[in-house]
Amino acid sequence: MGNNLLKGKRGVISGALDENSIAWKVAVRCVEEGASIVLTNAPVAMRMGEINKLAEQTGAKVIAADATEMADLENLFSTAVETLGGPLDFVLHSIGMSLNVRKKKDYTDLNYEWSQKTLDISAMSFHRMMQVLYKLDAMNEWGSILALTYIAAQRSFPDYNEMADAKALLESYARSFGYHWALKKKVRVNTISQSPTKTTAGSGVKGFGDFFDYADKMSPLGNASADDCANYCVALFSDLTRMVTMQNLFHDGGFSNMGMNPALLATEE
Ligand SMILES: NC(=O)c1ccc[n+]([C@@H]2O[C@H](COP(=O)([O-])OP(=O)(O)OC[C@H]3O[C@@H](n4cnc5c(N)ncnc54)[C@H](O)[C@@H]3O)[C@@H](O)[C@H]2O)c1
Repeated sequence: MGNNLLKGKRGVISGALDENSIAWKVAVRCVEEGASIVLTNAPVAMRMGEINKLAEQTGAKVIAADATEMADLENLFSTAVETLGGPLDFVLHSIGMSLNVRKKKDYTDLNYEWSQKTLDISAMSFHRMMQVLYKLDAMNEWGSILALTYIAAQRSFPDYNEMADAKALLESYARSFGYHWALKKKVRVNTISQSPTKTTAGSGVKGFGDFFDYADKMSPLGNASADDCANYCVALFSDLTRMVTMQNLFHDGGFSNMGMNPALLATEE
């Protein structure tokens, strides 16, 4: 049940692949809160995923766009503005993929061509989206742009591999472009640093199951779920958070500020 927190707002949500995707839950919650949305994903994901089911459920149009292609992004955002009937109030970047992780290449043995692709898909795509929106003047005043990230941008999580570097770049883009967006349209730009979450992208990380349990025990509130993340996104898209910008916001049940949790030691006895 919604509280009309996003009543009358228009948004674009990327990255809903299947029901487990964080973006899927965000899309459902945004519509529950009164928003009209456009969904987008890579053309290849359209064939694999179930996005049309989500489109039906949310009354959304789906526009295919490879987030590494400027022409696709220009088409996406200009068509979204047209379809939704005006400039956008919020945009979610929920895109991540590592070629070296997928092909099981170790961090000490990276294939740099693959790494470039990883950075392009997982980080530079965020800058591309913001640049296209900026040039098209496609955001409303006091809008909100969000991307999803992970704490491996700040701390060492060896199995996260090159995605750690991609996330560091992604977070930097939020700070750097956040400044320009604030001046242009009072639009805020933030990243949400989310707990490990059981999704297609998440489960691709080596040892994900064990790590998920570790993080769950380390966090005094436990891991934040995709549903919780969707609620946080709604809050950050709403007018209740208008002065929050250029931040990396931890949404992790307390994990990021823990040193040691006795709950973890207990299981090792
Ligand atoms: N799952 C986790 O543990 C976790 C934790 C923190 C942050 N995140 C981040 O959350 C975001 C969403 O991931 P998720 O966990 O929901 O997994 P997911 O696999 O459901 O979503 C990833 C999405 O990226 C899309 N994508 C890949 N290449 C693309 C391209 N070239 N153009 C457009 N879209 C493309 C995929 O089609 C997919 O929909 C990612 O940025 C991920 O790094 C995930």
